[in-house]
Amino acid sequence: MAAVRAPLSRRFSVAPMMDWTDRHCRFFHRLLTRRALIYTEMITTGAVIHGDRTRLLAYDLAEHPVALQLGGSDPRLLAKCARIAEDRGYDEVNLNVGCPSDRVQEGRFGACLMAEPALVGECVAAMKANVKVPITVKCRIGIDEQDSEEALETIAGVVEAADVDALVVHARKAWLKGLSPRENREVPPLDYARVFRLKIAHPHLAIVLNGGIASLDRAAAHLKRLDGVMMGRAAYQEPWRLLGVDPLLFGESAPFDTPKAVAEALIPYVQRELALGTRLHAITRHILGLFRGVRGARAFRRHLAMEAVKPDAGAGVLAEALTLVVDAEADLAHFAA
Ligand SMILES: Cc1cc2nc3c(=O)[nH]c(=O)nc-3n(C[C@H](O)[C@H](O)[C@H](O)COP(=O)(O)O)c2cc1C
Repeated sequence: MAAVRAPLSRRFSVAPMMDWTDRHCRFFHRLLTRRALIYTEMITTGAVIHGDRTRLLAYDLAEHPVALQLGGSDPRLLAKCARIAEDRGYDEVNLNVGCPSDRVQEGRFGACLMAEPALVGECVAAMKANVKVPITVKCRIGIDEQDSEEALETIAGVVEAADVDALVVHARKAWLKGLSPRENREVPPLDYARVFRLKIAHPHLAIVLNGGIASLDRAAAHLKRLDGVMMGRAAYQEPWRLLGVDPLLFGESAPFDTPKAVAEALIPYVQRELALGTRLHAITRHILGLFRGVRGARAFRRHLAMEAVKPDAGAGVLAEALTLVVDAEADLAHFAA
Protein backbone atom coordinates (compact mmCIF):
# COMPACT_ATOMS: atom_id res chain seq x y z
CA MET A 1 0.00 0.00 0.00
CA ALA A 2 1.10 3.54 -0.66
CA ALA A 3 3.13 4.59 2.36
CA VAL A 4 3.23 8.18 1.19
CA ARG A 5 0.01 9.99 1.93
CA ALA A 6 -1.58 11.48 -1.20
CA PRO A 7 -2.43 15.18 -0.84
CA LEU A 8 -6.08 15.98 -0.22
CA SER A 9 -7.90 16.84 -3.41
CA ARG A 10 -11.67 17.18 -3.84
CA ARG A 11 -11.56 16.62 -7.60
CA PHE A 12 -13.04 13.17 -7.06
CA SER A 13 -14.62 11.74 -3.93
CA VAL A 14 -16.61 8.68 -2.93
CA ALA A 15 -19.80 9.72 -1.14
CA PRO A 16 -20.58 9.03 2.51
CA MET A 17 -23.03 6.11 2.57
CA MET A 18 -24.55 4.64 5.73
CA ASP A 19 -23.95 0.91 6.10
CA TRP A 20 -21.81 0.94 2.95
CA THR A 21 -18.70 3.11 3.40
CA ASP A 22 -17.51 1.47 6.59
CA ARG A 23 -13.80 1.02 7.24
CA HIS A 24 -13.56 -2.24 5.29
CA CYS A 25 -15.17 -0.67 2.26
CA ARG A 26 -12.89 2.34 2.50
CA PHE A 27 -9.77 0.19 2.76
CA PHE A 28 -10.89 -1.68 -0.36
CA HIS A 29 -11.66 1.53 -2.26
CA ARG A 30 -8.23 2.86 -1.36
CA LEU A 31 -6.68 -0.12 -3.14
CA LEU A 32 -8.47 1.05 -6.29
CA THR A 33 -7.49 4.72 -6.14
CA ARG A 34 -4.84 6.64 -4.23
CA ARG A 35 -6.31 10.03 -5.04
CA ALA A 36 -10.05 9.88 -4.38
CA LEU A 37 -11.13 11.54 -1.15
CA ILE A 38 -13.16 8.97 0.74
CA TYR A 39 -15.87 9.62 3.30
CA THR A 40 -17.06 7.71 6.33
CA GLU A 41 -20.69 6.91 6.94
CA MET A 42 -22.49 9.70 8.78
CA ILE A 43 -21.81 9.52 12.51
CA THR A 44 -23.93 11.65 14.83
CA THR A 45 -22.42 13.97 17.41
CA GLY A 46 -24.29 11.99 20.06
CA ALA A 47 -22.61 8.76 18.96
CA VAL A 48 -19.15 10.35 18.87
CA ILE A 49 -19.58 11.82 22.34
CA HIS A 50 -21.46 9.03 24.13
CA GLY A 51 -20.81 5.95 21.97
CA ASP A 52 -17.95 3.53 21.51
CA ARG A 53 -15.68 6.18 20.01
CA THR A 54 -12.72 3.91 19.39
CA ARG A 55 -14.82 1.57 17.29
CA LEU A 56 -16.87 4.25 15.55
CA LEU A 57 -13.91 6.37 14.51
CA ALA A 58 -11.49 3.54 13.73
CA TYR A 59 -9.82 3.63 10.35
CA ASP A 60 -6.69 2.24 8.73
CA LEU A 61 -3.82 4.64 8.04
CA ALA A 62 -3.89 3.47 4.42
CA GLU A 63 -7.29 5.17 4.05
CA HIS A 64 -5.85 8.70 3.99
CA PRO A 65 -7.08 11.10 2.72
CA VAL A 66 -10.30 10.30 4.59
CA ALA A 67 -13.09 12.62 5.71
CA LEU A 68 -15.42 12.09 8.67
CA GLN A 69 -19.04 13.03 8.08
CA LEU A 70 -20.89 14.30 11.13
CA GLY A 71 -24.63 14.54 11.72
CA GLY A 72 -25.69 17.16 14.21
CA SER A 73 -26.94 20.71 14.66
CA ASP A 74 -25.49 21.90 17.96
CA PRO A 75 -22.52 24.14 17.12
CA ARG A 76 -20.80 23.42 20.44
CA LEU A 77 -21.08 19.64 20.06
CA LEU A 78 -20.05 19.76 16.40
CA ALA A 79 -16.99 21.83 17.32
CA LYS A 80 -16.11 19.27 19.99
CA CYS A 81 -16.54 16.36 17.58
CA ALA A 82 -14.52 18.11 14.88
CA ARG A 83 -11.67 18.40 17.37
CA ILE A 84 -11.95 14.73 18.26
CA ALA A 85 -11.84 13.88 14.53
CA GLU A 86 -8.83 16.11 13.98
CA ASP A 87 -7.01 14.57 16.94
CA ARG A 88 -7.62 11.14 15.43
CA GLY A 89 -6.06 12.26 12.16
CA TYR A 90 -9.09 12.67 9.90
CA ASP A 91 -8.22 14.90 6.95
CA GLU A 92 -11.55 16.73 6.74
CA VAL A 93 -14.81 17.01 8.65
CA ASN A 94 -18.06 17.25 6.70
CA LEU A 95 -21.45 18.33 8.03
CA ASN A 96 -24.50 16.45 6.73
CA VAL A 97 -27.20 18.85 5.53
CA GLY A 98 -28.73 16.40 3.08
CA CYS A 99 -30.00 13.26 4.77
CA PRO A 100 -33.82 13.08 4.86
CA SER A 101 -34.45 10.04 7.11
CA ASP A 102 -37.07 10.29 9.85
CA ARG A 103 -34.51 9.51 12.53
CA VAL A 104 -32.38 12.39 11.36
CA GLN A 105 -35.37 14.74 11.20
CA GLU A 106 -36.24 13.91 14.80
CA GLY A 107 -32.70 14.90 15.73
CA ARG A 108 -33.20 18.17 13.79
CA PHE A 109 -30.25 17.68 11.52
CA GLY A 110 -29.50 16.40 8.04
CA ALA A 111 -31.63 17.82 5.22
CA CYS A 112 -34.02 19.67 7.54
CA LEU A 113 -31.14 22.06 8.26
CA MET A 114 -31.74 23.44 4.75
CA ALA A 115 -34.57 25.34 6.48
CA GLU A 116 -32.20 26.73 9.12
CA PRO A 117 -29.36 28.30 7.16
CA ALA A 118 -28.29 30.65 9.96
CA LEU A 119 -27.78 27.65 12.24
CA VAL A 120 -25.73 25.88 9.56
CA GLY A 121 -23.53 28.99 9.39
CA GLU A 122 -23.08 28.89 13.17
CA CYS A 123 -22.19 25.19 13.03
CA VAL A 124 -19.54 25.76 10.38
CA ALA A 125 -18.11 28.78 12.17
CA ALA A 126 -17.89 26.88 15.46
CA MET A 127 -16.11 23.94 13.84
CA LYS A 128 -13.76 26.20 11.88
CA ALA A 129 -12.83 28.04 15.08
CA ASN A 130 -11.93 24.81 16.85
CA VAL A 131 -9.81 22.92 14.29
CA LYS A 132 -7.28 23.39 11.50
CA VAL A 133 -8.55 20.59 9.24
CA PRO A 134 -10.92 21.63 6.42
CA ILE A 135 -14.62 21.85 7.25
CA THR A 136 -17.06 21.10 4.45
CA VAL A 137 -20.84 20.84 4.10
CA LYS A 138 -22.93 18.42 2.02
CA CYS A 139 -26.38 19.72 1.15
CA ARG A 140 -29.32 19.43 -1.26
CA ILE A 141 -30.57 22.12 -3.65
CA GLY A 142 -33.61 22.53 -1.41
CA ILE A 143 -36.25 20.70 0.58
CA ASP A 144 -40.03 20.42 0.24
CA GLU A 145 -41.62 23.57 -1.14
CA GLN A 146 -38.43 25.63 -0.97
CA ASP A 147 -37.43 27.49 -4.11
CA SER A 148 -34.11 25.88 -5.03
CA GLU A 149 -32.71 29.12 -6.44
CA GLU A 150 -33.20 30.85 -3.13
CA ALA A 151 -32.57 27.94 -0.75
CA LEU A 152 -29.25 26.90 -2.29
CA GLU A 153 -28.10 30.50 -2.67
CA THR A 154 -28.86 31.18 0.99
CA ILE A 155 -27.06 28.11 2.30
CA ALA A 156 -24.06 28.78 0.03
CA GLY A 157 -23.94 32.40 1.19
CA VAL A 158 -23.91 31.53 4.89
CA VAL A 159 -21.35 28.75 4.65
CA GLU A 160 -19.09 30.85 2.46
CA ALA A 161 -19.32 33.67 5.00
CA ALA A 162 -18.35 31.14 7.69
CA ASP A 163 -15.26 30.28 5.61
CA VAL A 164 -16.28 26.74 4.69
CA ASP A 165 -13.66 24.85 2.69
CA ALA A 166 -16.07 23.32 0.18
CA LEU A 167 -19.76 22.80 -0.44
CA VAL A 168 -20.87 19.43 -1.81
CA VAL A 169 -24.26 19.70 -3.49
CA HIS A 170 -26.47 16.67 -4.10
CA ALA A 171 -28.23 18.20 -7.08
CA ARG A 172 -31.81 17.34 -6.22
CA LYS A 173 -34.34 18.36 -3.62
CA ALA A 174 -35.27 16.18 -0.66
CA TRP A 175 -38.92 15.73 0.28
CA LEU A 176 -39.03 15.31 4.03
CA LYS A 177 -42.56 13.94 4.12
CA GLY A 178 -43.86 11.23 1.84
CA LEU A 179 -40.64 9.90 0.34
CA SER A 180 -38.31 7.30 1.85
CA PRO A 181 -34.56 8.06 1.95
CA ARG A 182 -34.16 5.73 -1.00
CA GLU A 183 -36.89 7.49 -3.01
CA ASN A 184 -35.26 10.77 -2.07
CA ARG A 185 -32.18 9.60 -3.98
CA GLU A 186 -34.21 8.77 -7.08
CA VAL A 187 -37.52 10.60 -7.38
CA PRO A 188 -36.75 14.34 -7.14
CA PRO A 189 -35.20 15.29 -10.48
CA LEU A 190 -31.51 16.09 -10.78
CA ASP A 191 -30.78 19.73 -11.57
CA TYR A 192 -27.11 20.07 -12.45
CA ALA A 193 -27.73 23.43 -14.10
CA ARG A 194 -28.68 24.84 -10.70
CA VAL A 195 -25.27 23.83 -9.35
CA PHE A 196 -23.47 25.29 -12.37
CA ARG A 197 -25.25 28.61 -11.74
CA LEU A 198 -24.19 28.45 -8.10
CA LYS A 199 -20.53 28.15 -9.14
CA ILE A 200 -20.84 31.16 -11.43
CA ALA A 201 -22.37 33.17 -8.59
CA HIS A 202 -19.71 31.98 -6.10
CA PRO A 203 -16.48 31.65 -8.07
CA HIS A 204 -14.32 31.51 -4.92
CA LEU A 205 -16.35 28.81 -3.18
CA ALA A 206 -15.15 25.27 -3.91
CA ILE A 207 -18.22 23.42 -5.16
CA VAL A 208 -18.46 19.65 -5.56
CA LEU A 209 -21.28 18.09 -7.59
CA ASN A 210 -23.03 14.93 -6.41
CA GLY A 211 -25.97 12.88 -7.63
CA GLY A 212 -26.40 10.46 -10.52
CA ILE A 213 -22.83 10.65 -11.81
CA ALA A 214 -22.55 7.23 -13.39
CA SER A 215 -19.19 7.23 -15.17
CA LEU A 216 -15.77 8.82 -15.03
CA ASP A 217 -16.40 10.35 -18.45
CA ARG A 218 -19.36 12.24 -16.99
CA ALA A 219 -17.25 13.15 -13.98
CA ALA A 220 -14.52 14.57 -16.22
CA ALA A 221 -17.11 16.63 -18.11
CA HIS A 222 -18.45 18.16 -14.87
CA LEU A 223 -14.92 19.00 -13.75
CA LYS A 224 -14.74 21.55 -16.57
CA ARG A 225 -17.27 23.67 -14.65
CA LEU A 226 -16.88 22.66 -11.03
CA ASP A 227 -14.16 21.99 -8.48
CA GLY A 228 -15.02 18.38 -7.81
CA VAL A 229 -17.38 15.48 -8.31
CA MET A 230 -18.64 13.00 -5.73
CA MET A 231 -19.76 9.55 -6.82
CA GLY A 232 -21.92 7.39 -4.58
CA ARG A 233 -23.85 4.36 -5.81
CA ALA A 234 -21.93 3.91 -9.07
CA ALA A 235 -18.67 3.70 -7.11
CA TYR A 236 -20.04 1.27 -4.54
CA GLN A 237 -22.02 -1.00 -6.83
CA GLU A 238 -19.34 -1.18 -9.54
CA PRO A 239 -16.12 -0.45 -7.70
CA TRP A 240 -13.97 -1.37 -10.73
CA ARG A 241 -14.76 2.16 -11.91
CA LEU A 242 -12.49 3.52 -9.21
CA LEU A 243 -9.46 1.92 -10.86
CA GLY A 244 -9.81 4.59 -13.56
CA VAL A 245 -9.82 7.57 -11.20
CA ASP A 246 -6.07 8.11 -10.86
CA PRO A 247 -5.26 7.68 -14.59
CA LEU A 248 -8.28 9.51 -16.01
CA LEU A 249 -8.76 12.34 -13.51
CA PHE A 250 -5.28 12.82 -12.05
CA GLY A 251 -2.95 11.71 -14.87
CA GLU A 252 -1.29 9.21 -12.54
CA SER A 253 -0.93 5.46 -12.77
CA ALA A 254 -3.56 3.24 -11.16
CA PRO A 255 -2.48 1.42 -7.99
CA PHE A 256 -3.04 -1.96 -9.72
CA ASP A 257 -3.39 -3.07 -13.33
CA THR A 258 -6.52 -5.18 -12.96
CA PRO A 259 -9.48 -5.63 -10.60
CA LYS A 260 -8.20 -9.14 -9.92
CA ALA A 261 -4.87 -7.77 -8.70
CA VAL A 262 -6.81 -5.47 -6.37
CA ALA A 263 -8.77 -8.38 -4.92
CA GLU A 264 -5.56 -10.33 -4.41
CA ALA A 265 -4.04 -7.37 -2.62
CA LEU A 266 -7.03 -7.38 -0.28
CA ILE A 267 -6.24 -10.89 0.97
CA PRO A 268 -3.55 -9.88 3.54
CA TYR A 269 -6.01 -7.32 4.97
CA VAL A 270 -8.69 -10.01 5.14
CA GLN A 271 -6.31 -12.33 7.00
CA ARG A 272 -5.38 -9.57 9.44
CA GLU A 273 -9.01 -8.68 10.10
CA LEU A 274 -10.17 -12.29 10.48
CA ALA A 275 -7.48 -12.77 13.11
CA LEU A 276 -9.03 -9.83 15.00
CA GLY A 277 -12.48 -11.44 14.89
CA THR A 278 -14.01 -9.72 11.82
CA ARG A 279 -16.34 -11.97 9.77
CA LEU A 280 -15.30 -12.52 6.16
CA HIS A 281 -18.65 -11.36 4.82
CA ALA A 282 -18.24 -7.98 6.54
CA ILE A 283 -15.40 -7.32 4.09
CA THR A 284 -16.38 -9.28 0.99
CA ARG A 285 -19.90 -7.79 0.83
CA HIS A 286 -18.26 -4.61 -0.46
CA ILE A 287 -16.47 -6.25 -3.38
CA LEU A 288 -19.33 -8.14 -5.02
CA GLY A 289 -19.54 -5.73 -7.99
CA LEU A 290 -15.80 -5.68 -8.68
CA PHE A 291 -16.01 -7.85 -11.78
CA ARG A 292 -19.38 -6.82 -13.17
CA GLY A 293 -19.50 -7.55 -16.88
CA VAL A 294 -16.56 -9.96 -16.78
CA ARG A 295 -16.90 -13.69 -17.45
CA GLY A 296 -17.18 -15.51 -14.14
CA ALA A 297 -18.43 -12.47 -12.26
CA ARG A 298 -21.71 -14.16 -11.36
CA ALA A 299 -19.95 -17.28 -10.09
CA PHE A 300 -17.61 -15.06 -8.07
CA ARG A 301 -20.54 -13.24 -6.46
CA ARG A 302 -22.46 -16.44 -5.84
CA HIS A 303 -19.49 -18.16 -4.22
CA LEU A 304 -18.95 -15.23 -1.87
CA ALA A 305 -22.66 -14.86 -1.13
CA MET A 306 -22.93 -18.53 -0.13
CA GLU A 307 -19.58 -19.23 1.49
CA ALA A 308 -18.39 -15.95 3.03
CA VAL A 309 -21.40 -15.75 5.35
CA LYS A 310 -20.46 -19.01 7.10
CA PRO A 311 -19.17 -18.32 10.60
CA ASP A 312 -15.83 -20.05 10.04
CA ALA A 313 -15.22 -18.68 6.53
CA GLY A 314 -11.53 -17.97 5.98
CA ALA A 315 -9.52 -15.95 3.46
CA GLY A 316 -9.39 -19.07 1.28
CA VAL A 317 -13.02 -18.43 0.33
CA LEU A 318 -12.00 -15.19 -1.36
CA ALA A 319 -9.06 -16.88 -3.09
CA GLU A 320 -11.40 -19.62 -4.35
CA ALA A 321 -13.92 -17.06 -5.59
CA LEU A 322 -11.17 -15.35 -7.55
CA THR A 323 -10.35 -18.51 -9.42
CA LEU A 324 -13.89 -18.37 -10.85
CA VAL A 325 -13.24 -15.06 -12.58
CA VAL A 326 -12.27 -16.17 -16.04
CA ASP A 327 -11.24 -13.06 -17.77
CA ALA A 328 -10.31 -10.40 -15.26
CA GLU A 329 -8.13 -8.50 -17.69
CA ALA A 330 -10.92 -8.04 -20.19
CA ASP A 331 -12.72 -5.45 -18.16
CA LEU A 332 -9.72 -3.16 -18.24
CA ALA A 333 -11.41 -1.92 -21.37
CA HIS A 334 -14.17 -0.54 -19.16
CA PHE A 335 -12.01 2.10 -17.60
CA ALA A 336 -9.21 2.50 -20.09
CA ALA A 337 -11.66 4.07 -22.55
C1 LIG B 1 -26.90 3.30 1.08
C2 LIG B 1 -26.73 4.80 1.07
C3 LIG B 1 -26.43 5.45 2.26
C4 LIG B 1 -26.25 6.84 2.28
N1 LIG B 1 -25.84 7.45 3.45
C5 LIG B 1 -25.50 8.78 3.44
C6 LIG B 1 -24.89 9.39 4.56
O1 LIG B 1 -24.60 8.77 5.59
N2 LIG B 1 -24.59 10.73 4.47
C7 LIG B 1 -24.86 11.45 3.34
O2 LIG B 1 -24.56 12.65 3.29
N3 LIG B 1 -25.42 10.88 2.27
C8 LIG B 1 -25.72 9.57 2.28
N4 LIG B 1 -26.19 8.97 1.15
C9 LIG B 1 -26.36 9.78 -0.08
C10 LIG B 1 -25.09 9.75 -0.92
O3 LIG B 1 -24.00 10.31 -0.22
C11 LIG B 1 -25.30 10.53 -2.23
O4 LIG B 1 -25.60 11.87 -1.91
C12 LIG B 1 -26.43 9.95 -3.07
O5 LIG B 1 -26.37 8.53 -3.14
C13 LIG B 1 -26.41 10.55 -4.49
O6 LIG B 1 -25.21 10.24 -5.14
P1 LIG B 1 -25.12 9.04 -6.23
O7 LIG B 1 -26.24 9.27 -7.21
O8 LIG B 1 -23.77 9.17 -6.84
O9 LIG B 1 -25.32 7.77 -5.47
C14 LIG B 1 -26.40 7.59 1.10
C15 LIG B 1 -26.70 6.92 -0.10
C16 LIG B 1 -26.84 5.54 -0.12
C17 LIG B 1 -27.13 4.84 -1.43
